[in-house]
Amino acid sequence: MNKLITAAAILAAAMGSTSVARAADVEVIHWWTSGGEQAAVSVFAREFDALGGDKWVDTAIAGGENARAATLQRILGGDPPGAAQFNPGRQYEELISGGQLLDLTDLATKENWATVIRPASISAACLVDGHWWCVPVNIHSWNWAWASIPAFKKAGVELPTSFDDFLAKAPKLKEAGIIPFAIGGESWQINGAFGVIQTAMLGLDKRQALLKDKDMSIAEGPDMTKVFEEFRAFKQFSDDGSANRNWNDTTNLIVTDQAGIQIMGDWARGEFGVAGKKPGVDYACLALPVDHPTVSTGGDIFLFPKNKDAAVEAAQLKLASMMISPRVQALFNNAKGSMPVRDDVDMSLADDCMKKGLEIIKDPKNIAEDAGRWLSNDTTGQMNDLIAQFWSDDTMTVADAQAKYVDILKAAD
Ligand code: GAL
Repeated sequence: MNKLITAAAILAAAMGSTSVARAADVEVIHWWTSGGEQAAVSVFAREFDALGGDKWVDTAIAGGENARAATLQRILGGDPPGAAQFNPGRQYEELISGGQLLDLTDLATKENWATVIRPASISAACLVDGHWWCVPVNIHSWNWAWASIPAFKKAGVELPTSFDDFLAKAPKLKEAGIIPFAIGGESWQINGAFGVIQTAMLGLDKRQALLKDKDMSIAEGPDMTKVFEEFRAFKQFSDDGSANRNWNDTTNLIVTDQAGIQIMGDWARGEFGVAGKKPGVDYACLALPVDHPTVSTGGDIFLFPKNKDAAVEAAQLKLASMMISPRVQALFNNAKGSMPVRDDVDMSLADDCMKKGLEIIKDPKNIAEDAGRWLSNDTTGQMNDLIAQFWSDDTMTVADAQAKYVDILKAAD
């Protein structure tokens, strides 16, 4: 017996596994700084700390681009965080190919992630060449508009049933002293709203042919001209304060009934949640396009940079497992406004907006793959800049903007 213990102890020491029992700090970099986002991320922190031993160390950096850049710098500088948030898709492809990430395959196989996570395009963001490099934590769709019910009541008009219908009703909102169209100033917000209008106007097949297969006849054609024209038509209904405004201050204009609608991903739902607002009473979540709602497969993943400390590595695996567990999926996604990545979770807390999303996602024909799966970070950045410029600079013609869009897509890798 003694001999056995000694042998096991020697082996454990040789493998460095004695340190595994040591508690570790896991620093997590994310960009969840709004009220709703903080309520959601604190679910992760609280649940992780409650497991005992290891500790969640929170590093919140405002703005997705800033947070991702900080993570990349830390990894390249040899001081990686324990975990970091990215959007599912191509944002972290160099980290995978460069061998910088902890391989989660054994854990994922044990917990059967490939079967429980749905739809398949969500797994595909982390399951690359047969290995799991990250854990998807939610499905966020861009294809929503958030409307203030009291604002529309005040203007004496019904909620919009299409973009054109909204543009027809917007003057009434304006007359009633309401900002018809709330939009913020960051380029990703502006291109995000443009993308929703584009998805609705092109339909899913043409959108895929354009953004995935780079079909230039669509990029150069009349359908895309109409998308640019429609987007420009919204401008007259936005307010002067939109420049530099962040997305959640913009959502707050809807929450406080100062504005009519905001086109924004369903993280906006978290803001209504923390403000105690009720869907169907205080606000409406319009799944877009209203006559044939779709959901896009955006969201968030966490990746775990390789760490030399075995205690940190053990804690990273523990955190990954916790994030995907059914209980935490239910608690986190209810606070976040997103949908869980698995359907075996208790959805009794789901509000009407989440129920709507869950219904839409059941049919694969309603799923719009997130453009970030197809476009590199660089291409996305160029598109964000172009669409933001088109939005703010009225002297840029539709023809100019479309020509620049074509150039970006032609050069896309
Ligand atoms: C997205 C992210 C969401 C939400 C949003 C605004 O990139 O997927 O979780 O937080 O940014 O911060």
